Amino acid sequence: MTGALPTFSVASLDEDAAGIRAAFDEAGVVILKGFATREACAALKTRAFELVDGFDIDAHRTVFSTTTQAHAADAHFLNSGGAISFFLEEEAYDANGNLKHGKRQSINKIGHALHDLDPVFSAFSHSRKMEAAARAVGFDAPLLLQSMVILKPPSIGGEVTCHQDSTFLYTEPESCVGFWLAIDEATLENGCMEFIPGEHRGPLRRLFRRKDGGGTEFIELSDAPYTEERRVAAPAGVGDLVIFAGRAPHMSRANRSDRPRMAYTLHMIDARARYPAFNWLQRPEGMPLRGF
Ligand code: FE2
Repeated sequence: MTGALPTFSVASLDEDAAGIRAAFDEAGVVILKGFATREACAALKTRAFELVDGFDIDAHRTVFSTTTQAHAADAHFLNSGGAISFFLEEEAYDANGNLKHGKRQSINKIGHALHDLDPVFSAFSHSRKMEAAARAVGFDAPLLLQSMVILKPPSIGGEVTCHQDSTFLYTEPESCVGFWLAIDEATLENGCMEFIPGEHRGPLRRLFRRKDGGGTEFIELSDAPYTEERRVAAPAGVGDLVIFAGRAPHMSRANRSDRPRMAYTLHMIDARARYPAFNWLQRPEGMPLRGF
């Protein structure tokens, strides 16, 4: 396949679910145009910035500037599966440890349980329309596992190199699917998603897991290269939803433009699949995963 990725109108959720399913199985990725209204996206953006504005970045920096920095970073990350946590851009600080930009432009992402803990993101994530999108790509018993606001701020938003999400959210059998909503318009200039259509049928390359003694590690499963020359951009308008398989290789370039590229992502798994304890994302006691 060359050129554009399979693209449907959100009306197809009701009218052409079989067409969406067939395209998703073939390409490993489909785009649903107009999934969320501009107003809904504006509300998500407003809420994301409220969360950012309430985040105590100085306290955060104190934790991360101690001698146990690596341990603190690990704990912050590993506990975020059941929290609303903030992760800074790699280039957020200058050489003297001062923020180069304002807070809203310094944060890379917020995660990973917004879909259960924040009322605005929860309402959007557990909506009937999201459930219809999940069912359209084959879920019978979806569980909402992970959510992130990815800010990808102007000028410092970092590159994400080619990877598969099942590396990070692994079930047996594999069942992870990503739902990526454009809150801002995403183009090649501000770092839209890019996919290698059809390559979700290739092997899972790596597994990211908790180590027994603490921390995390990558296990190499396959050295099959990605067919990078077949990569296709997935530009998205405000409110478009990109749905992609857990093995679909994807990446996004850095945002060196002066335009924001905020997105909201949700990852689902099949409730009947086994969710190994070695997955980095574990929910705290008393906070089970939920469906719709
Ligand atoms: Fe990803």
